[in-house]
Amino acid sequence: MPNHDGSTKEPSAEEEAKLERFKERLALEKRIGERMGRVGHKILIASGKGGVGKTTAAVNLALGLAEAGDSVALLDADIHGPGVPLMLGLAGARPTGTEEGINPVAYDDNLVVMSMAFLLAGDSDAVIWRGPLKMAMVDNFLADINWGDRDWFVVDTPPGTGDEILSLAQRIKDVDGLIMITTPQEAALASARKSLTFAVKTNIPILGVVENMGPVACPACGHEMKLFGEGGGPRVAAEFGVPFLGSVPFDPEAVPESDRGQPLLLTDRDSPAAAAWREIVARLREVVAQREASRSEEA
Ligand SMILES: Nc1ncnc2c1ncn2[C@@H]1O[C@H](COP(=O)(O)OP(=O)(O)O)[C@@H](O)[C@H]1O
Ligand SMILES: [Mg+2]
Repeated sequence: MPNHDGSTKEPSAEEEAKLERFKERLALEKRIGERMGRVGHKILIASGKGGVGKTTAAVNLALGLAEAGDSVALLDADIHGPGVPLMLGLAGARPTGTEEGINPVAYDDNLVVMSMAFLLAGDSDAVIWRGPLKMAMVDNFLADINWGDRDWFVVDTPPGTGDEILSLAQRIKDVDGLIMITTPQEAALASARKSLTFAVKTNIPILGVVENMGPVACPACGHEMKLFGEGGGPRVAAEFGVPFLGSVPFDPEAVPESDRGQPLLLTDRDSPAAAAWREIVARLREVVAQREASRSEEA
């Protein structure tokens, strides 16, 4: 076959390899597009710093959406420190493979989960991949998991400045937006502000801010304890002109329960923290519906 310049020179091995990589990339993007096309709302759970409750939020929001009967997929995109399986009591579960791809682990009829932890032999096995390899793994999670038809796709992200979030948003394409998790004190707010600024600059929609580990009433005397201060979440939401989705009180039971794989929303149905997560789920539904309505008005 003649080349574009009319010559009939065979392509070099290097050119062939380049073309091959290009074709692979296109095929991958096509597979991601097909899978994500069957998923309704796509939500990224983000925070400026680690340990503020991202994974807790991802798990409780996914459960909250699923308990109303919606079909939810939860992707643990924290390749280095995957925490979702432990929190859901799914540690040790293994996904099964089919011809079309890998089946996610079913938590129940309404919630399926995929995490790097399902692919590691032991809990303490570390993944020491660098950035590009981690993103390649996330690509595989998006392209080769049989996510099926879902109302919601919730993604728990790794802690970081925002690059991972940007890569995720670019790969998933039409994300509804991110939810920023922060604790109330200034030290956490500073990094939340940085991440929110990054999201604004890179055009990732912000669905709202959740304040975690907020003020809690002492169970014995009712006195309100502000372990990490108060009001930081609403303040930062107002600064950025984005919805404040709610404040989840510090809950002394949260750590032992989530370590046992018993997320708050299930075990402690009447606790203030569980009630707060349910209210946040309701607010999230409103925000997403409003955004959808204003988008269809524009169209
Ligand atoms: N509202 C809360 N009250 C008390 N402990 C909490 C609360 N939310 C999260 N935690 C605990 O804080 C720790 C860090 O939460 P995690 O969700 O893993 O944070 P991240 O994913 O942001 O690193 C966990 O042990 C979790 O159980
Ligand atoms: Mg986490």
